[in-house]
Amino acid sequence: MNVQTVSTQPFTDQKPGTSGLRKQVQVFRKFHYLENFVQSIFDSLEGYQGQTLVLGGDGRYYNRQAIQTILKMAAANGWGRVLVGQKGILSTPAVSCIIRKNQAFGGIILSASHNPGGPEGDFGIKYNISNGGPAPEKVTEAIYARTKEIDTYKIFEAGDVNIDELGTFQLSETTVEVIDSVTDYADLMESLFDFDRIRQLLTSGNFRMCMDSMHAVTGPYAHAIFEQRLGAPAGTVMNGTPLEDFGDGHPDPNLVYAHDLVEILYGDNAPDFGAASDGDGDRNMILGRKFFVTPSDSLAVLAANAKLVPGYKDGLAGVARSMPTSAAADRVAAQLGIDCYETPTGWKFFGNLLDAGMATLCGEESFGTGSNHVREKDGLWAVLFWLNILAVRQQSVEQIVREHWQTYGRNYYSRHDYEGVESDRANTLMDNLRSSLSSMKGKQLGSYQVEYADDFSYTDPVDGSVSQKQGVRIGFTDGSRIVFRLSGTGTQGATLRVYLESYEPDVAKQNLDPQEALADLIVIADEVAQIRTLTGMDKPTVIT
Ligand code: G1P
Ligand code: ZN
Repeated sequence: MNVQTVSTQPFTDQKPGTSGLRKQVQVFRKFHYLENFVQSIFDSLEGYQGQTLVLGGDGRYYNRQAIQTILKMAAANGWGRVLVGQKGILSTPAVSCIIRKNQAFGGIILSASHNPGGPEGDFGIKYNISNGGPAPEKVTEAIYARTKEIDTYKIFEAGDVNIDELGTFQLSETTVEVIDSVTDYADLMESLFDFDRIRQLLTSGNFRMCMDSMHAVTGPYAHAIFEQRLGAPAGTVMNGTPLEDFGDGHPDPNLVYAHDLVEILYGDNAPDFGAASDGDGDRNMILGRKFFVTPSDSLAVLAANAKLVPGYKDGLAGVARSMPTSAAADRVAAQLGIDCYETPTGWKFFGNLLDAGMATLCGEESFGTGSNHVREKDGLWAVLFWLNILAVRQQSVEQIVREHWQTYGRNYYSRHDYEGVESDRANTLMDNLRSSLSSMKGKQLGSYQVEYADDFSYTDPVDGSVSQKQGVRIGFTDGSRIVFRLSGTGTQGATLRVYLESYEPDVAKQNLDPQEALADLIVIADEVAQIRTLTGMDKPTVIT
């Protein structure tokens, strides 16, 4: 056997963040950097020898090289079988689906999600466990601990595997199967949604949709599902070929970065429905004609209409949302008489609730929605869910959302991001906020009175694990709220996220622009946290 044991030294910066280890490509290309992290993953697992690993990525720059390295390391470390997506392509939800379908031990996803790619962009690596979901904190902590001690890694010496053609290869004792990237995932979608009805809608001649894959991983999936299986006309999917640099774009489906799609949906003769997904296919943005659906509302609408969709017709066990996500879903849950769980930011916190059958739908304000069909958020799933609802209700996106607000009230919502803030300044801002919390209760801020102020802490109801310091919340007596936290996915400096929410039950007052409706809270947020003074920025870099 040509297994090499290579001496190495630890790197000090391999702590996984909200969603795996994300760094600039140039960092990942440092000698041994990728190898150290991969070996640290393997070293912190028990019992994987002879088992199956799923491997794929979003097609960004460095994906192909990393896959070859990981295949050889998997072989040297005794994995039984590696299922790798053709051309190295697998979306994040597809990896989750394939792990579950094949009862794999785990999976490695190569992606920095919505961060830009290319030689100057970002790269990332995430490990998912046997339920198909992101490794929970105890696993990522073990991986991190290992990265600080590692002194050797193992790699099998061999030529590169041809990952462009479907087929089976042997690397030492390990079988490498190059699998079709799309089929298993598309079959799962077909089992959940009423494809006949959606096909009727898409081929009726009265309905047009536009799907923007942003030159990222969902292109092949979207072509296969919308244009082939569901009969939508060719051209329905735009930017549908994954490119290593995402066409020099920022593959984040929001109103700022998905501007090609936004122009179409807000232009003349706009289609009825528009959607976009991110680099690795787990995020989604939903648009109607000249109408944007806030992700928090999208979760609530899906929950309220779940019975119209075959895969969810028997009802929901519960819903879950991340803490900064608006309380729109809570109102639906209350009406349905089911529980609504509030978790810290990041999909990994939903895994236990889904496994325990406590929640069926989950969502985050950051354009993430999903269900118990896999253990990741799932962009195309959300698009199909919306299409299924539209096909049954025969109303426009805007009509559906407005009726929803009439029934449940409207949660005005916005997130303001301050990107590229110097880390020290961002930490000072959060420290100052934290130390002011104890004196805030009962305070009058503008026309709002503080009902509670705390740093969110979560006790997992399934395994009792506690996650502290998950974001500063200031809640007001009328149900409005401001949340502050620092991003855990950025690779340069710090990003401050400010989440703003207010509640409007009165239909006559539900037509404001959210920035207008939230104007007073925006001023209060700046005063309380001294955002402009401490960041040196006079406005957010991104508003969603
Ligand atoms: C961001 C989002 C979070 C999401 C994560 C991965 O994390 O806010 O909801 O789960 O990306 O897509 P953050 O950068 O805020 O830590
Ligand atoms: Zn993503």
